[in-house]
Amino acid sequence: METQSIRFYYRGRVHEVTDQPTTRTVLQYLREDLGRTGTKEGCAEGDCGACTVLVAEPDGHGGVAIRAVNSCIQFLPTLDGKALLTVEDLRQPDGSLHPVQQAMVDCHGSQCGFCTPGFVMSMWGMYLEHEPGARAPSRTEINDALSGNLCRCTGYQPIIRAAGEMLSYPHVPFDRAALTKILGTLSRDNIFTYEVAGHVFHAPRTVAQLAELRMQYPQARLLAGSTDVGLWVTKQFRDLPHLIYIGQVEALREIEQQADGYLNIGAGASLNDAYDALVTHYPEFAELRQRFASFPIRNAGTLGGNVANGSPIGDSMPALIALGTRIVLRRGERVREMPLEDFYLAYQKSALEAGEFVQGMRVPLALADQQFRTYKISKRFDQDISAVCAAFAVSLDPEGVVRRARFSFGGVAATPCRAPAAEQTVLGQAWDEQHVRLAMQALTADFKPLTDMRASDAYRMKAAQNVLYRFYLETAPGTPLTTRQVSTAVLADIA
Ligand SMILES: Cc1cc2nc3c(=O)[nH]c(=O)nc-3n(C[C@H](O)[C@H](O)[C@H](O)COP(=O)(O)OP(=O)(O)OC[C@H]3O[C@@H](n4cnc5c(N)ncnc54)[C@H](O)[C@@H]3O)c2cc1C
Ligand code: FES
Ligand code: FES
Repeated sequence: METQSIRFYYRGRVHEVTDQPTTRTVLQYLREDLGRTGTKEGCAEGDCGACTVLVAEPDGHGGVAIRAVNSCIQFLPTLDGKALLTVEDLRQPDGSLHPVQQAMVDCHGSQCGFCTPGFVMSMWGMYLEHEPGARAPSRTEINDALSGNLCRCTGYQPIIRAAGEMLSYPHVPFDRAALTKILGTLSRDNIFTYEVAGHVFHAPRTVAQLAELRMQYPQARLLAGSTDVGLWVTKQFRDLPHLIYIGQVEALREIEQQADGYLNIGAGASLNDAYDALVTHYPEFAELRQRFASFPIRNAGTLGGNVANGSPIGDSMPALIALGTRIVLRRGERVREMPLEDFYLAYQKSALEAGEFVQGMRVPLALADQQFRTYKISKRFDQDISAVCAAFAVSLDPEGVVRRARFSFGGVAATPCRAPAAEQTVLGQAWDEQHVRLAMQALTADFKPLTDMRASDAYRMKAAQNVLYRFYLETAPGTPLTTRQVSTAVLADIA
């Protein structure tokens, strides 16, 4: 396959790039090559939001999807066929400020100004979601949209106020139709191939093309949302000579409720889209969704990437395993599936064979009598890595006896795992304090947590036991406590 140029739309024209390394980040290119320094660099690892930009791409339904992402961890060739919007695009033709900027000025939302371009880009992303005259976003929506932006001097209150008021200014329209047309001219029918200095970037369009490329180049690294892989380059300086990018395979982004009682989530569905679908069926996912990374990371990152990466502290797996999710793997023409817990063999070792990739996940839809909860234990509420992440699902028969129990944990072993000894302790028994206390003890036979900078082994074990107890308090037959009541009861106990 011959090399092609990266083509993307930015600041009124199509840019064609032929000479940049395959892992050059969008941020590096903006600042160092185009001299567009409005977009800032803080952490270069997706944490601070100073580098936030908007990326527009076809939404698969004849329109465009515009999403805020962290440009510091996105590789330039992933922009092929897309449009890039940066803080420079906010400037109005008559030189006046865009409402998101004017609201920041009027609400005193900026001091040193370093974080401001990132904040206004996240706010612009939210602004574009609202039609003229729409109701102002709620405090929860604003907090979520700004969860990936850090400010060290202004304080968040004025910024949140600005986000709440930006829609009250005279509306500035955005020409989605024109952008759709432009993106149409950039679309490709076939695999995109970009090669520089012996480094290759492939972007297939279809699942069949992906399957073929993966078989042909089993040693190549798959790239999805780049929220793990991007850091291998910006923080670990790893060399990635061959990338196969799955972000252009539209079919992998599909999320579908199947007649067989499963929710099928394509491996390329963004974390935000996947969690939105999961929350529809399991409202208990809502807090985990909100606390998983930040809004822009969830825009770029995929559920497939989280599951495939298989980090012992990945947040999606405990919940998916507790629900009985099956993972769908494809190698060439062969498609096979297995329970997600069987996919993880050892630390950073999965059941993926050479030439195979994750095609999707199949999540069983809510069982009428199932109680399900997830718990993420971390030092901060937003944008933090779990010390322990747990999920529990139990089904009781009419007498209150446990018919089905699936307890699943992250952060306590080398892989995401179930807790068979604890599950066996409650199976066939009354769902009561005595058996739950025994199950808490049994967890010590299920895993031996490690000590690291996030938490000690003892803390992790205690936390794992306590969230199981919490689950019981929230689901005890006849007298379940609400989340708030559990907190009050625990605090009273400590006092
Ligand atoms: C600031 C920040 C905060 C984060 N917070 C959290 C958090 O709260 N909880 C959490 O769990 N994670 C968190 N992460 C990690 C990361 O966002 C997730 O693991 C994410 O789901 C990875 O998905 P991705 O699409 O970006 O994967 P990528 O980075 O593109 O790929 C990750 C790995 O999966 C492989 N891969 C990707 N797709 C496939 C596929 N279809 N088949 C086979 N292999 C594949 C890649 O080859 C690579 O090895 C955070 C990351 C950052 C930068
Ligand atoms: S520079 Fe901090 S998120 Fe990109
Ligand atoms: S205004 Fe200084 S960091 Fe936000």
